[in-house]
Amino acid sequence: MSWITLIPFLGLLTTCLGQQYSSQCDKPRNVQLPFCDPSLSIEVRIADLISRLTLEEKIGWMVHDAQGASQNVDLDDYYWWNEGLKGIGGGPQSPEYGARFRPPTEYATMFPQPINLASSFNKDLFLAVGNATGNEARAFFNVGNGGLTYWSPNINIFRDPRWGRGHETPGEDPRLSIEFAKGWIRGLQGDQANGFLKNSACCKHFSAHSLENDRFTFDAMVNQQDMADTYLPVFKSCVQESSVSCVMCAYNAVNGFPACADKGMLTGTLRDLWGFDGYVVSDCGAVDYVYSRHNYTEFPAQSVAAVLDAGVDVECFVGGGSYYTRYLQDALNEDLINQGNLDIALEHGFRVLMRLGYFEPNATRPFTDILPEIVDSAPHRTLSLTAARQSIVLLKNSPTGKASLPLLPLDPATLSHKQATMALVGPHLNASMAFLANYYGVPSSISTPLEQIRLRVPSVQHEFGCDLTSFANPRLEEAAALARVSLPVIIFVGISASHGGVEYEEHDRPNLTLPGLQSDLIRVVLDASTEPVVLVVVSGGVVDLSEWKDNPKVGAIIWAGYLGQSGGEAIAEVIFGEYNPSGRLGQTFYSNEVINQFEKYDMNMRPHSGSLGRTYRFYTGQPVYPFGFGLSYTSFEYTILNPPALKISQISLNQDCALVINLSVRNIGAREAEHSVLWFVSPPNAGQMGRPIKNLLDFERLDSILPNMVKEVSLCLNRNHFLLANEAGEFEVVSGEWKLQDPRGRILSTFGGNRTTPPLATGGVVGAK
Ligand SMILES: *[C@@H]1O[C@H](CO)[C@@H](O)[C@H](O)[C@H]1NC(C)=O
Ligand SMILES: *[C@@H]1O[C@H](CO)[C@@H](O)[C@H](O)[C@H]1NC(C)=O
Ligand SMILES: *[C@@H]1O[C@H](CO)[C@@H](O)[C@H](O)[C@H]1NC(C)=O
Ligand SMILES: *[C@@H]1O[C@H](CO)[C@@H](O)[C@H](O)[C@H]1NC(C)=O
Ligand SMILES: *[C@@H]1O[C@H](CO)[C@@H](O)[C@H](O)[C@H]1NC(C)=O
Ligand SMILES: *[C@@H]1O[C@H](CO)[C@@H](O)[C@H](O)[C@H]1NC(C)=O
Ligand SMILES: *[C@@H]1O[C@H](CO)[C@@H](O)[C@H](O)[C@H]1NC(C)=O
Repeated sequence: MSWITLIPFLGLLTTCLGQQYSSQCDKPRNVQLPFCDPSLSIEVRIADLISRLTLEEKIGWMVHDAQGASQNVDLDDYYWWNEGLKGIGGGPQSPEYGARFRPPTEYATMFPQPINLASSFNKDLFLAVGNATGNEARAFFNVGNGGLTYWSPNINIFRDPRWGRGHETPGEDPRLSIEFAKGWIRGLQGDQANGFLKNSACCKHFSAHSLENDRFTFDAMVNQQDMADTYLPVFKSCVQESSVSCVMCAYNAVNGFPACADKGMLTGTLRDLWGFDGYVVSDCGAVDYVYSRHNYTEFPAQSVAAVLDAGVDVECFVGGGSYYTRYLQDALNEDLINQGNLDIALEHGFRVLMRLGYFEPNATRPFTDILPEIVDSAPHRTLSLTAARQSIVLLKNSPTGKASLPLLPLDPATLSHKQATMALVGPHLNASMAFLANYYGVPSSISTPLEQIRLRVPSVQHEFGCDLTSFANPRLEEAAALARVSLPVIIFVGISASHGGVEYEEHDRPNLTLPGLQSDLIRVVLDASTEPVVLVVVSGGVVDLSEWKDNPKVGAIIWAGYLGQSGGEAIAEVIFGEYNPSGRLGQTFYSNEVINQFEKYDMNMRPHSGSLGRTYRFYTGQPVYPFGFGLSYTSFEYTILNPPALKISQISLNQDCALVINLSVRNIGAREAEHSVLWFVSPPNAGQMGRPIKNLLDFERLDSILPNMVKEVSLCLNRNHFLLANEAGEFEVVSGEWKLQDPRGRILSTFGGNRTTPPLATGGVVGAK
């Protein structure tokens, strides 16, 4: 008897200490049961566990705040909902997500928002950031401060630039999104070398979801061709290339079916066709909305039965409460479903928890060596700074002054000799929380531009000039007065992703212009300043820069986004040349005219009578800055080393690397650089007959290329690179002439048709001169 009384006492003791997470399978009532026996197969253990739950307990496990169990087994409550968009989300109380920021995990590392991180075009960085976040997540769990099931990444294609949550995604391109998801998921879930998942990642929102206004009722009409080559490829890769263990269904309907009630997609495509073996969670409230917003059935129990039958295993609910808790029993009573349907959903959820080691007894519990010390550790902070640097995109850097040198980088040493002092103006000059965007946790500190620039130029002056969005308390005259007597002048403008800001959940942007008085502020400062100024834009989504792109008074433009906790430091490093910028746009920078060139609710990617087409793959208008654009403080020369001599018809089906193209990259400038090579290809009859103008095939990042140094990359081509989706959504090999291009659209090589052309003799030059 004594152990029975002793162990709860010990349990109480460890709870009081709050440091030691106690496994479900160390509990005295569970320890002897088959579901806790690691020598049995997972399937046997899952079946045993489910057989011991009462009906009410079963339903309790199918909602995001799972209700434990006490009748025949002793299970704690489990919170399925954890957020890891770019670091662990939540706060000290975490009203919404599972993670709790309290000792010994008061802080977590905050990385750049995905739209910004994607600009690094750095696969290793995607993995490293996912891994660091995943290690911090496990450390939170190990001390009882978080769960193991994370609902990231958000990998919907950033279809329309007005989308209020587009900044949560890696952008508009399927290939970039696939590579982002592969790195991130592998980092978060781990390599399973010990047989266990480190954490569970979740690809969302399945399938075609990319607007906020009307998101609960919208019916996205998607044609088969766009479905095949835009909306589904990233999800398919999540399942087949990354073995993601969760998929979240979207709020909206797709082609007439609410996404969370769409059995054809959730079971037919996801499980049966692609082989998904994780759990499906609803977006939060989506089960409720199948009934209450989409009016899918006459009675709630019918909608709940349809959702369960479609394949939703766990319901996330919000204000309205859980529909599963309220209506699954009714659906059973009315024979709309049976207990077997519930058991299948529970199998999907428990299989993931088993794979996470959630039901391991103490002796076999995995990842216990991931300690809270790694949370907010020095290496993770350094990684966050590295990620912020690589996320920044230099869009303009014009020659100025008598020497006709590019305006950037600035040299703090020569600045201090000038008569005038340096000035910062604009509402984002001291940005801090703005760098965290949304779904953030608590970093130990956030560096701001003002603070970091002041470290380098102590005499720097500043004047905000105006608010981000409001027209109240304008100080435009004061800003102009400061600009008149200052040199150089840097203007910090942009938008924000905070709730009630500009781009945020449940809110799409009406337009792409700078809100409030910001454009007026830029105009008066340009008028007042004696020399060209630097414009720094902080945003996730696109800001219309057409007015400034060719304006000679704007000497340089830096797109610095929601860079995470090290944003201010990374921006200062770029301005002063301590870091040579290397980011490239992962989204087309449109002008505001696009709001008349395509409709927000139009899901078509390809141009048609009402649309100029979307994203660099199909847009037939003139962007301000194209996808893939980004300058450096140095220049690079490209040379193709081996002209491809094959025709597509000669590439055999099963060869992984049928055609290798090698490219040498020479740094022909004076500064050390990092550089991502982006391989685009345009198909025969590009931009016609529904064919893309071009597609990103792959990309590769080169580190520390010293002046005059040459580095090589090689691209490995196979038959999959010459496939295009037809109108029926089937992929076909397309023969004819394919053109390999650099990011500026310059043709590097032509191949695949009846002839091959030799490579360019001297190679193209990219980057700032
Ligand atoms: C993930 O992080 C751990 C701890 O720093 C490290 O040992 C491991 O090599 C990393 N994994 C990958 C794939 O980078
Ligand atoms: C659903 O029904 C409500 C109430 O009858 C109605 O206001 C709403 O427009 C309907 N929604 C849809 C998507 O048909
Ligand atoms: C589980 O193992 C940890 C060390 O890994 C130990 O501190 C704890 O007391 C053990 N708990 C039980 C119930 O055995
Ligand atoms: C800049 O932001 C920091 C951190 O939020 C704050 O402490 C400081 O007062 C701000 N400086 C100015 C000039 O607003
Ligand atoms: C443009 O969008 C901003 C928000 O970003 C809004 O404040 C402004 O009213 C809009 N302008 C027009 C003309 O709709
Ligand atoms: C191309 O690159 C591959 C891989 O680095 C290498 O094995 C091959 O020798 C290179 N070929 C040429 C012609 O440079
Ligand atoms: C290739 O050559 C064949 C035979 O000469 C011809 O029928 C075909 O149209 C050519 N294809 C292209 C893409 O030029």
